[in-house]
Amino acid sequence: LPLAAGTADLTGKRLLVTAGGTRERLDPVRFLTNDSSGKMGYAIAAAAQRAGADVTLITAPTKLPVPSGVTVVPIESTQDLADAVLTRLPAADGLVMAAAVADFQPIESADQKIKKTNANDELVLRLKKTPDILQAVAAQKRPDQVVVGFAAETQHLLENGRQKLTKKHLDLLAANDVSRADIGFNGDNNQVTFLFADGHNEQTPVTSKRAIATTLITHVAEIFNQK
Ligand code: CTP
Ligand code: CA
Repeated sequence: LPLAAGTADLTGKRLLVTAGGTRERLDPVRFLTNDSSGKMGYAIAAAAQRAGADVTLITAPTKLPVPSGVTVVPIESTQDLADAVLTRLPAADGLVMAAAVADFQPIESADQKIKKTNANDELVLRLKKTPDILQAVAAQKRPDQVVVGFAAETQHLLENGRQKLTKKHLDLLAANDVSRADIGFNGDNNQVTFLFADGHNEQTPVTSKRAIATTLITHVAEIFNQK
């Protein structure tokens, strides 16, 4: 069956979940970000909490209510998120990186509002890569820890997803086709293909983010049992 009934037990497990789109500041009133609503990550935090885990939700700004019984750590930038994850990783049993992390940040962030009188007709922004958090996690994680990533793809979902799973040393990856308007970044529904470290894949139907979160947490519990 593609969707499990939600009988996962994560009692006693400390889980970090990240959610939302990180923000990279240009100046005090402007930032670069993406379309992530945070709904998938919040649904995962809630599903983990229902399964009995001790959940810390590290979240970029969203419009969502805080899930009950979950510890919330607010962050804005990718660097904030990296710091929040890496300091908490040693005490955690697992990490689910559902955050839509900015890949680039401005090289300079202005202390004062950028005035249009300072530019001619064009303004050139220079960006540099943000730290890859899962890559840093891969270098530090213990064999007993379960690490789950997401992949947002507009093409070659399985190939690109497999590459990310391998490169980031993940136990599980949820690959998301973000080119489809009916699922993904902003809606209440989603469809993912789970890529497991042993090489097998499992595609969910298009269903609620809540149902996908429940299935993901069931897989996390199975992986803990296999460790
Ligand atoms: N991720 C991360 N740190 C980053 C960028 C992404 O930890 N600086 C995580 C995301 O939270 C996600 C996974 O890596 O769990 C894959 O993110 P994705 O954006 O799909 O892949 P990238 O490795 O950033 O590659 P690209 O965007 O070029 O496809
Ligand atoms: Ca990316």
